[in-house]
Formats: sequence, structure tokens, C-alpha cells
Amino acid sequence: MNLPILEDVEYRPAASRPGTAAGSRSVYIETYGCQMNVADSELVASILNESGYQITTAAEEADIILLNTCAVREHAEERVIGRISQLNGLRAHRPNLTLGVLGCMAQHLSKSLPVRAPFVDLVMGPDAYRRLPEILAQSSDDALLDVRLDRAENYIGVNPVRRTSTNAWVTIIRGCDKFCTFCIVPYVRGRERSVSAGETVDQVKRIAQEGFKEVTLLGQTVNSYREGDTDFADLLREVSAVDGIERVRFTSPYPVDFTDRVITAMAEVNEVCPSLHLPVQSGSNKQLDTMQRGYTIEEYRELIRKLRIAVPNIALTTDIITGFCGESDEDFRLTYELMEEIRYDSAFMFKYSAREGTYAHKKMSDDIPEKIKGERLQRVIKLQEGISREVNRQYIGQTVEVLVEGPSKRPAKDGQPRFYGRTRQGKTAIFTQEIQRNEIVNVRVADTTSHTLLGEIAE
Ligand code: SAH
Ligand code: F3S
Repeated sequence: MNLPILEDVEYRPAASRPGTAAGSRSVYIETYGCQMNVADSELVASILNESGYQITTAAEEADIILLNTCAVREHAEERVIGRISQLNGLRAHRPNLTLGVLGCMAQHLSKSLPVRAPFVDLVMGPDAYRRLPEILAQSSDDALLDVRLDRAENYIGVNPVRRTSTNAWVTIIRGCDKFCTFCIVPYVRGRERSVSAGETVDQVKRIAQEGFKEVTLLGQTVNSYREGDTDFADLLREVSAVDGIERVRFTSPYPVDFTDRVITAMAEVNEVCPSLHLPVQSGSNKQLDTMQRGYTIEEYRELIRKLRIAVPNIALTTDIITGFCGESDEDFRLTYELMEEIRYDSAFMFKYSAREGTYAHKKMSDDIPEKIKGERLQRVIKLQEGISREVNRQYIGQTVEVLVEGPSKRPAKDGQPRFYGRTRQGKTAIFTQEIQRNEIVNVRVADTTSHTLLGEIAE
């Protein structure tokens, strides 16, 4: 492999660290944040494996611990700071331990992290992972910092080490060019670039040969995909046509870039699952405008209407932010009412967290008191909980197709083991009959909660 020269890698003071030639050194990777980080950790594992490192699942036994981090909200960063301090305690027994912070928070806090957590040996952004083996092999008393963003880095040729699971993540587009005013992602993940369709289809073929039946195409704005003449609708069809692939999902689409061609592909191609995460953020046009989301709520509603006609059994989920700059009671009411109207299957709901470097942080006033942000958040969570419960109840008596994932962590009340898998709508289904992972079975739903369907295998 041809590695770039490290001329602009910066050095910062940190705990003493010996050189770490691969040998039989073991690496533990812990992942925070979105699915793209999960996929990136699989790339990191592959890059290190190729260089002779062993991947371990036990932090206490590892020679190198890497945290792949998220910067989307302050809370996510605080958690990681706490966790690295805790892991630093392992040095008492493992003085040669190397502790590294990778990913979006590493990129975001590249200046302050070596000061806030001086015991960190390595700080590396999401475009620099190919240089990991080279950097780990260096002997230095200084922490290494490599946060160059690279508009061309797509990790082509790196075959991810996938975790044992039923779903394979496939990153088809990296970075984001949308610059929503609240969001740090474009600053920490750099400019949008698509992986070629040929490379993506080859990857999916390899995945199918490994035995996976399900793939999820990933990107911060996954449907903005374009490479040459291939748009996202074409790619969905090409990936779905790969032998052995029975389910195709994608996340997260950006409402503005959702074309009729993609809706038609979802309706026509059986492998494309009827589930969609379509972040709305707010129900108020005024807020959508200050967020620079690029759509009005009327346009969003129209998109949902078309999707529900084309794919009648579609499960819809979303992201909501409460307490973004200037959010009045009326703006919040519009969000609340939109959720009542659309009746999402579930939602990720967040209090606005000002992120240094974003437009909102620089130019807008974070003027909604924490207490109100929190109260609004609790209200939408409660609303959604009730809606999710009602939506799921419709499945009682129906037979759903489930891709089995394995034993459920929670046994039945009488102590009997249970097993679980996911429906085509992306819902968790739990049943008692033992079925091998990766089998596709029919489950007759007898009961539901706001999060799960409970039933038995249907003959
Ligand atoms: N397009 C991306 C979105 C990344 S961030 C994707 O594929 O998921 C995920 C979600 O976090 C956003 O949709 C938004 O609802 C939330 N979020 C982003 N920045 C935030 C902030 N500063 N405060 C609170 N929530 C935020
Ligand atoms: Fe963030 Fe908006 Fe891109 S939410 S990831 S800037 S689409």
C-alpha cells in the first residue's frame, strides 16, 4: 500500500508512548454515534488487521484502545471524555497502552482535546485512517494529531471487517454539503463524495458471498448520491439485483433530494424494504428556514403523501430537534401537531445543542432556556411513545417476515429464552422458537409494545 507522507501531522505533548510495531499487538475499538461510525470502525479494523494487528473485544486486554466518536451533540462528547479518563485507568496495569480518539469529535476538538485529555496518545479525523498503522508504529513522547480532511478519501480497496450480524453496512457517500445551520457534520466529515457504482456493487457481491442477506446503504445524505450517470434510484436497483441480497435499506435520505425515481424504485423493487428514516427536524416553516433545511413543511408533507401511496405499508421514522434558536411556543406546537398528523413509527428526538463552528453557533442566539428545551423534548417523547404503541398495535394478528438475528437479551417472564429479528419495516420481532441467525421466517404477531412485536413462528 502506498502511504502519503506525514509532513503536516502535528505533534502535541502527551504521556510517554513506546513505538508500536504491529507484531501481535491487539486493538480494541469502541464506537459512538451513527451507523456511519459503525461502518468506519469496520474500515479501521480492516486497515489494522491488514497491517498485522489483532482485533479484540476486551478493552482490558488490548494494547491499543481506539474510541470512534461523535460530535453531533455536546452530551456525546462529554460521554467520551468520561470514558477515556476511565480507560486511562487501565494504564496502571498496562503502562504501554496506546489510547486514541478517532472520528468526528477528534476532528471537532483537535485543538482542545490534547489539553482536556492530555493522556490521549492519538487524535485522528475520519479521513486519515489509512495512516493509522504508520502512526501507531512511530515512537514518540508526543500525541499524534492527524485531522486532515481529504475530499477524495472514500477508502476504496479497504474491505471492512464486518461484525457478526445479519446486516452489512455499505458507505456509498461520505461527507455532507448541506450545512444545516445547527449541524457540525459538514465541518468534521468534509465535502460530499460518492463511491463509484461499480465499486459499490462489487462490495455488495462480496457481502452476499459472505452470506449476508441484508445491506444498508449509508451516507449523511444518502439519496444525494450521484456518480457519472448513476443516481441513487439506479444504484438501489443495481444493488437489489445482486444474487443473495434479499433486503436493501438506506439511511439517511435528505428530503430535498428525494426524487420520484427513488419513490418508484422503492415501490417496484421487492428487495428495497418498506422503511424510511426521513429527518424533518421541525414542523415550523420559520424554523426550517433558519435551520436552512431547504424545504417547507408543505413540501415535506407532499413527499410523505407520495411515499405512502407508492409504498402503502411503509414504516416512517424521523429526527426532531426541540429548542433550536428562536423556537416559539407556536413553532413547537407546529412540530407537535406534525408528529400527531404524520404518526411516525418512531422518532429520534433531541434538545438543540449549540456546536462550536456551526453557523448557528456563530450567528444565532441559543435563546431557548435549557428548561424549556427539556420540557418540549419530554412532551414530544411522550407523544411519540403513545403513537408508536398505537401504530404497532395494528400488527396484532398479522404475519410478518423476520430476518433472525439471534437470542434476545431479555428472556420471557417465566425465564424461557427468546429470539429476535427484524421485520421488513425494521421493527424488532421477538419469539420463543430457536431459529438460526440469518434465517428468514414468518412470525404471527400476538402482542406489541411501543418498541417491539411479540409472536410465534407461523408454519
Ligand atoms: N444526515 C445525517 C444527520 C446527522 S446528525 C444522518 O444521516 O443521520 C443526526 C441528527 O442529529 C440530525 O438529524 C438532527 O436531528 C440531530 N442533530 C444534529 N445536530 C444537532 C444539534 N446541534 N443539536 C441537536 N440535535 C442535532
Ligand atoms: Fe447535518 Fe444537515 Fe448534513 S443535518 S449531516 S448538515 S443534511
